[in-house]
Amino acid sequence: MRTQVVIIGGGPSGLLLSQLLHTRGIESVVLEKRSKAYVLGRIRAGVLERGFVDLLTQAGVDQRLRSEGLRHDGTLLSYDDDSFRIDFKRHTGHSVTVYGQTEVTRDLYAAREASDGKLIFEVDNVKIHDADRNSPFVTFDQNGTESRIDCDFVAGCDGFHGISRNTIPADVRREYEKIYPFGWLGILSETPPVDHELIYSSSKRGFALCSMRNPMLSRYYIQCPLTDNAANWTDDAFWAELKRRIPTQRAETLVTGPSIEKSIAPLRSFVTEPMRWGRLFLCGDAAHIVPPTGAKGLNTAASDVHYLFEGLCQWFDAGDTEGIDRYSERALSRVWKAERFSWWFTSLMHRFPDQGDFDLRMQHAEIELLRDSETAQKALAENYVGLPY
Ligand code: APR
Ligand code: PHB
Repeated sequence: MRTQVVIIGGGPSGLLLSQLLHTRGIESVVLEKRSKAYVLGRIRAGVLERGFVDLLTQAGVDQRLRSEGLRHDGTLLSYDDDSFRIDFKRHTGHSVTVYGQTEVTRDLYAAREASDGKLIFEVDNVKIHDADRNSPFVTFDQNGTESRIDCDFVAGCDGFHGISRNTIPADVRREYEKIYPFGWLGILSETPPVDHELIYSSSKRGFALCSMRNPMLSRYYIQCPLTDNAANWTDDAFWAELKRRIPTQRAETLVTGPSIEKSIAPLRSFVTEPMRWGRLFLCGDAAHIVPPTGAKGLNTAASDVHYLFEGLCQWFDAGDTEGIDRYSERALSRVWKAERFSWWFTSLMHRFPDQGDFDLRMQHAEIELLRDSETAQKALAENYVGLPY
């Protein structure tokens, strides 16, 4: 088999790249380790930056997003019950769109299948060969049979636990990591959201986030120790703790109900450099991870895809290597800004086990600066709605 671009990973990054390439007549094959049902069963965040919405529009995959997505012009911040709103629209002229990653992935699968996209599921033992030469190829097993795909380029969109990143030799790679001393216990409930916008709340008991998927599907998180286990939490215990951490007046109106999903995610910051090695390009979680506080994971995967798509089009259309040669530098410049914002927002809104009184005073001073300063609020808003590509 031969194609122009082999894409390893059928998550949002891989599917978006495949769909964008298709709009320019560039062939790709997507190799996905899991089944389509498994991929669509993942519960992930759902706040889309303006740039991502534009990219989905460019890919022709924005119809349902525009009819079902919820436009949010701001968010509420609360620190020890002192609450104030950050008005994205007033500070930046832009909003964010709340639309679950699962729905984005579902829409991308539908688009790829509607145009007979080549998606191969439940593959195993994927290996990238000769990425540092002009004729790379990928081998993989499916149903006990080994296959080979020759190609011009390989896109490693296989997430943090994929094989692409480690295909780049260890002496070429530089890795940066920060592990946070807590996780997020999240639940999904078929209840109306507590507010029309998100609420990020820091309390003496820890962080909490009130989010949503649609008017009858809410997503809530509370900071928890890394040693915690979702099985330790009854729904009643979760709701009681959430109410202790969010603004009092919201706690009084919170509609609770049975959880339809409950899980704990650890928080980490991670970046690998470079994001290119020869004909192999890394996109999304394969190259970087952010703590979910700033909702930057999916959105930074999208900007990677944008830069790689533009570079591949330049090469296939005119043999121009400028875009692919600058891919890693351009993608990483935006990745590091997303890492910084996610780290800053996480450090501001969470209570750390080793925090001293001075540290708490620094958090409080930062919150007061945000509450009182238009400039500080504008800086937060610009990062949250998405820095330009
Ligand atoms: N071979 C083929 N597919 C693989 C392999 C492999 N060796 N390893 C992993 N995969 C698949 C996974 O099953 C998954 O479907 O690659 C896909 C990677 O998808 P994601 O992990 O969702 O990463 P990405 O597409 O970059 O999307 C980033 O997803 O994890 C969230 O917070 C993250 O919102 C961000 C978004
Ligand atoms: C979510 O809805 O899952 C969500 C929203 C905002 C975040 C993180 C997660 O910062």
